[in-house]
Amino acid sequence: MSVADDHLAQAVEALDALGEFEHPWMREAFAGIPRHRFVSDTVWIPDAGGGYRALERSAEPERWAEAVYAPHAPLVVQVDDGRPARPGIGRQASSSISAPSAVLFMLRALDVRPGDRVLEIGAGTGWNAALLCERAGPDRVCTVEIDPALAARAREALEAAGRRVDVVCGDGELGHREHAPFERVIATVAVGRVPHAWIEQSAPGGVIVAPRIVPFHQGGLLRLVVADDGTASGGFDGGVMFMPTRGQRRSRFDPATLITDNAWEHSAEDTTALDVAALEDVHARFAISLRVPDVHHVLEPDRGAGRTLWLADAAGTSWAVVRHGTNGTGGARGEVNRFGPRDLAEEIHDALVAWEKAQQPRLWDFRATVTPHGTTYRIGGTDQPFAQDPGPSDR
Ligand SMILES: C[S@@+](CC[C@H](N)C(=O)[O-])C[C@H]1O[C@@H](n2cnc3c(N)ncnc32)[C@H](O)[C@@H]1O
Repeated sequence: MSVADDHLAQAVEALDALGEFEHPWMREAFAGIPRHRFVSDTVWIPDAGGGYRALERSAEPERWAEAVYAPHAPLVVQVDDGRPARPGIGRQASSSISAPSAVLFMLRALDVRPGDRVLEIGAGTGWNAALLCERAGPDRVCTVEIDPALAARAREALEAAGRRVDVVCGDGELGHREHAPFERVIATVAVGRVPHAWIEQSAPGGVIVAPRIVPFHQGGLLRLVVADDGTASGGFDGGVMFMPTRGQRRSRFDPATLITDNAWEHSAEDTTALDVAALEDVHARFAISLRVPDVHHVLEPDRGAGRTLWLADAAGTSWAVVRHGTNGTGGARGEVNRFGPRDLAEEIHDALVAWEKAQQPRLWDFRATVTPHGTTYRIGGTDQPFAQDPGPSDR
């Protein structure tokens, strides 16, 4: 047995003990389709500066195998779209093999049945497509990958593993009309809006599983069931975090570059009732993100002098800086400097108040209905929309 085979056997045991294999087919597929045969010899490990450094299998076989089989951590297999500026040093992860526990969580949500036609968005290494093929059967899975080098590699790995999967190089946000309709669609990249192509290309009753990412919040797995009228509805689960599709990538929000001394001088000073500490609650952040998806935020830790919240809209028109402490008159209003046409502190405050008034629902209490004209979010059991995203679901 190789070092990697040892780690595979240990991972199966550990995941079994955690009850992660809901169905026997999942255990069989995990054990029978070695993850390490899909992972490249060079992988990328986070470094102290927020970037990545290369880890070579030939130099550190034990560490490599450990990283491949870590039950709860994804492993980066490509940085900077395959073109790192310096050899062995990467800035941004552009492909990863998802954590085994996240993969199993999503497979449970997807509930593939033998014979289902399955569309996967984001082939990456091809390993998840191999698992899907194990369940759905040969020639039932189509996986779309935007990066040509990764698509070619995934195709080779799947062939070597004897799995008949169609690997297509293209933009998965457009789906893959040629093989439609699909009974199951799974995105292993995150989206802010579910592209309507995925709904159009699904069979009635089909299931779509997709991680969500918007500037305000990352995390939450959306599971939709497709109706026969061109709409889909469902709810959210869990805190899975995935990289966004290439088309929905945004540069990291850095308040220091946006809010220069000059911009500060031109900002308006005011006070706000926004309670920044309330944003520590993940369910509050999720609810706010449904109403105000396009605002970046950074909440600084309290270093003894109160809290500071930085806000900026993704379009770059407006920002706000809220410093929260008591105002000396017994009230608890924060001080705010704001710039631009939008009052971001007020928008976040209004969304927070709406969440509080609704009895602080949790992420999994929200329901989504997606139509060609946008998405409506409701709290389970109520008719009144909590938030509406009027944007088109196609780019
Ligand atoms: C987290 S990885 C997927 C992991 C993969 N399922 C596996 O088993 O290894 C996300 C992948 O999505 C790809 N991707 C990003 N945007 C895409 C798009 N618009 N269409 C298709 N693939 C995309 C990335 O290149 C990356 O390889």
